[in-house]
Amino acid sequence: MSSIALPVSPLIGNTPASPEIRARIHAARKALGNRLLVLGHHYQRDDVIEFADFRGDSLDLSLRAAKAGDVEFVIFCGVHFMAETADVLTPDGVQVILPDMRAGCSMADMADIDQVEDAWEVLTAATSERIIPITYINSTAALKAFCGRHGGAVCTSSNARAVVSWAFEQGSKVLFFPDQHLGRNTCHDIGIALDDMVLYDPHDPHERSGGNQLEVYDRAKVILWRGHCSVHQNFAPSHPDMLRQRYPGIRIIVHPECSFEVVQKADVVGSTRKIVETINASEPGSMWAVGTEHHLVNRLRNENPDKMVTTLAPFACQCSTMFRIAPESLCERMEELVRGEAHNVITVDKETTHWATIALNRMIDMRD
Ligand code: 13P
Ligand code: SF4
Repeated sequence: MSSIALPVSPLIGNTPASPEIRARIHAARKALGNRLLVLGHHYQRDDVIEFADFRGDSLDLSLRAAKAGDVEFVIFCGVHFMAETADVLTPDGVQVILPDMRAGCSMADMADIDQVEDAWEVLTAATSERIIPITYINSTAALKAFCGRHGGAVCTSSNARAVVSWAFEQGSKVLFFPDQHLGRNTCHDIGIALDDMVLYDPHDPHERSGGNQLEVYDRAKVILWRGHCSVHQNFAPSHPDMLRQRYPGIRIIVHPECSFEVVQKADVVGSTRKIVETINASEPGSMWAVGTEHHLVNRLRNENPDKMVTTLAPFACQCSTMFRIAPESLCERMEELVRGEAHNVITVDKETTHWATIALNRMIDMRD
């Protein structure tokens, strides 16, 4: 089945890097040889991901970074929290480089350590029950360290079920940050009622209690941080309905950062790896509408010409911070390394690394 007739955003097209930049990257890559490992997240542009030695979702990339003992440098084509995680997990002596320091994650910016410490004070005063803090990997190293210090863990979209289930074996309540949607979707998936979840708003203007009376936290099983992904919140519950009406038989596959209402309407929910594996393994002629970042959707579409793959929203949902990593910045960072200079090195201090490692190792040990 041809996918040519499908509606796609003009933004979806990706042109290769200029021949000059490509030649410079190849030359620098050759000069650096096996001193360098280039990691690339699935949302990276095609003109960047083509230079990745390994591509994957957040969990895969973390696991690969943890094994990178044989290289001097890791260039991380992804966003800041991913490079920070890689720095925590790589052996001492490996330098992790982010091609462009402007590549952050708006969701990770929605919870800072001071806000989380304030929330902890409120919640531990509100209940005598044991609360286990779980941070989504899309968060700063300081938040991961907070979880390590307080008996919690990090999760990714690949193993959130296992991590949250583990947390309920350790305590009777979970504080999940910064993504309310992944938290709500996961907890509902393991059988927790929506009524047992409460939203904590770090910007509550009236009092420093997250927008609720304290007894609400004592009753709740799950306290969800009021954070979200600005890319995935663009998918609306009306989108699956529209696509199903237009293409009977189409299947909807979404990332769990989408809202509860969207996830409830999907046929398949999972991390970027699960999305890639599911579509690649599906039968020729199958039709898919994908609720995630459009560079990945576009790649899946190009790599599966015998299937119909389209974006779930009628417009392009782009992660603008991922998009900041460009072939030009990748080229500059590589050429600096060839000259013996390392720029944009991401370094997490020793104390934070110690506690974050504890929370990350728990993440690594658990699978859905
Ligand atoms: P994955 O771990 O599924 O790749 O997700 C990372 C992310 O940032 C999604 O927005
Ligand atoms: Fe962050 Fe959303 Fe971009 Fe993922 S898609 S890196 S959660 S802003």
